[in-house]
Amino acid sequence: MAIIEANNISLYYGQKQALFDINLAFEKNTVNALIGPSGCGKSTFLRTLNRMNDLVPNVTVTGEVRIDGENIFSPTTDLVNLRKKVGMVFQQPNPFPFSIYDNVAFGPRIHGITNKQTLDEIVETTLKQADVWDAVKDRLHDNALGMSGGQQQRLCIARVLAVKPEIILMDEPTSALDPISSGKIENLIYDLKSHYTIVIVTHNMQQASRISDNTAFFLSGKLIEFDKTAYIFSNPKDKRTDDYISGRFG
Ligand SMILES: Nc1ncnc2c1ncn2[C@@H]1O[C@H](COP(=O)(O)OP(=O)(O)OP(=O)(O)O)[C@@H](O)[C@H]1O
Ligand SMILES: [Mg+2]
Repeated sequence: MAIIEANNISLYYGQKQALFDINLAFEKNTVNALIGPSGCGKSTFLRTLNRMNDLVPNVTVTGEVRIDGENIFSPTTDLVNLRKKVGMVFQQPNPFPFSIYDNVAFGPRIHGITNKQTLDEIVETTLKQADVWDAVKDRLHDNALGMSGGQQQRLCIARVLAVKPEIILMDEPTSALDPISSGKIENLIYDLKSHYTIVIVTHNMQQASRISDNTAFFLSGKLIEFDKTAYIFSNPKDKRTDDYISGRFG
């Protein structure tokens, strides 16, 4: 069974339809790239997977998203638990304006962990997992806003890992970063998939082909094609996919 299953998802901003009957399933421990031209609905679709669109006024969603078999649009869904299970990393690193330590400890504290030794362990382990521990271990109590952009983004990944999610959604997580920082995040994403399922929006075709197992191509709110990344980039079935990945539009 797929860990994430989107069935017949349509989404409207007011009267305007932004997603048209999307059906997609993602397997556990895979990296899945969402690609397509600006405005095609990648971010909108990504946000349906942890109900972030609930925060946007006048949004209507039809269809269902099942995570571990449970429909997350059900009225009984606990949103705090949903967002613990399905973490999100944004385009701009967005650490809270407090210490590096408190950024990572924030989620675990919300979920009731107060023991200092436990929190210390979570902070160290997740900063190591996010490959930023060595850079910050001597200044854990400094303000996170004093870190470089690339370090801040790795901190944001550590902050997500700290609540032990199953799924991590990433919306263009490297587009604000220099090539070296982007490369580090790409390596990290690749390593994370042994424990997590990742859905990542990217405009960078090389990035999609380097790090993802499967790729979904969106166009004008519709899913055109979803397949193994190697096929999408070598032998797509749809001419529009071929045109996009070979740079003929978008
Ligand atoms: N909050 C909103 N209110 C109204 N319309 C929106 C809102 N967010 C997105 N849209 C519209 O929905 C469509 C899809 O937008 P979305 O942001 O999902 O595209 P995208 O593929 O992520 O684009 P980009 O690559 O530029 O980030 C666009 O037409 C956009 O204008
Ligand atoms: Mg977007």
